[in-house]
Amino acid sequence: MEQYVIRGGNPLVGEVEIGGAKNAALAILAASIMTDETVTIDNIPDVRDVNALLQAMSDIGARIDRVDAHTVKITGSSVRDISVDYDSMKKIRASYYLLGALLGKYKHAEVTLPGGCNIGSRPMDLHIKGFRALGADVQIRNGAVAAEAQKLKGSHIYLDKVSVGATINIMMAAAMAEGKTTIENAAKEPHVVDVANFLNSMGANIRGAGTDVIRIVGVENLHKTEYSVIPDQIEAGTFMFAAAATKGDVTVKNVIPKHLEATSAKLLEAGCEIEELDDAVRVVASKPLRHTQVTTLPYPGFPTDMQPQMSVVLGIAQGTSTVTESIFENRFKYVDELTRMGADIKVESNIAIISGVKGYTGARVSAPDLRAGAALVIAGLSAEGTTIVDDIHYIQRGYEAFEEKLEKLGAQIRRVQTEKEIQKFHFKAV
Ligand code: UD1
Repeated sequence: MEQYVIRGGNPLVGEVEIGGAKNAALAILAASIMTDETVTIDNIPDVRDVNALLQAMSDIGARIDRVDAHTVKITGSSVRDISVDYDSMKKIRASYYLLGALLGKYKHAEVTLPGGCNIGSRPMDLHIKGFRALGADVQIRNGAVAAEAQKLKGSHIYLDKVSVGATINIMMAAAMAEGKTTIENAAKEPHVVDVANFLNSMGANIRGAGTDVIRIVGVENLHKTEYSVIPDQIEAGTFMFAAAATKGDVTVKNVIPKHLEATSAKLLEAGCEIEELDDAVRVVASKPLRHTQVTTLPYPGFPTDMQPQMSVVLGIAQGTSTVTESIFENRFKYVDELTRMGADIKVESNIAIISGVKGYTGARVSAPDLRAGAALVIAGLSAEGTTIVDDIHYIQRGYEAFEEKLEKLGAQIRRVQTEKEIQKFHFKAV
């Protein structure tokens, strides 16, 4: 099992290049099988979730031609199976996007229901409600969602809760339904817009993505395209919080600053200086960090995927902060780990009450999920002494070359596999 071993205390300084958005790439890759022609997608991150989805797509017959680490050509004409099995699904929850893509194109799809996830229960009722509204018969049988329709017909769909996954999945199926579909109370996340732009570049007719109401006029066929995925706002935000926690000075490059506004606003409140450039954001943390209040909300609110990283920064800020998690009910699992590093945090229901401490001290901790794992690495980078983060396979699901990028900014971090390697790192660092 791989681990990170980190010797904390170095301020992170310099520039870091941000990759393509994992969550946009996952949906775009799935949607690419909706045409029989070859689609070229660029700026995909080379991370485990993306590679697992490509494997699942190859398993159902799609031709996957990896041009390089960040570019792939996909040909959907060879898809011969509309059923995505348990093994693929277990590896990656977002293969549920194949449901919308296959249903739209072939009017028939079967995808195993995702298992429990460690940030809280993640139902699919809204996805299913949308597919049914489009005229599909949707059944849950033998642990899978099976959706089938003679033909899909445009409809008016109101989402009871803002859901990124349901919005994108319904948008994909509706892109090839007959007639007009309206999705109300749609998610407005940048990757919803990116998927709509991608589908439109294949000939779909989708308007309003990025607002609460998305209007789709179905088309019969989609065609080839070349498309570049947007930058990853969560990866960018993670490095911005790492700069803050280590009292550093980091410029995240190749980003869309507008997508980072909620993060930038909270870092400003916490006492950092933020400089917005055309396609970069600089974070300078030269003053003491201050307490603030944060609530996670759908975009343009503060992202739930940035909540653990924010809490790590507030854990060493002066005064008492509160962090309210309003999207997922079980996203404070990392708090016990952070407490082992000296944090003073109490969780009451969905609110973390954080009393700032002077600093963290190194400890052996375990990553409970993807973003919380990254947050523990940030804590380790700012801590006095050595931190070992176990279970980093979660982190590798969503961060490409995480340790290399951090090292370039001056971090002392190494990916290791054995106790011997940990000892070697200790010895070298002292
Ligand atoms: C996506 C992101 C994830 C992010 C989340 C919220 C991907 C692959 N993952 O997840 O990183 O944390 O958005 O920004 O893009 N819900 C229902 N019924 C449904 C669907 C969702 O009740 O059918 C609820 C969920 O339990 C949650 C809320 O809606 O409380 C938002 O979830 P949703 O936006 O769907 O998250 P995902 O798309 O799974």
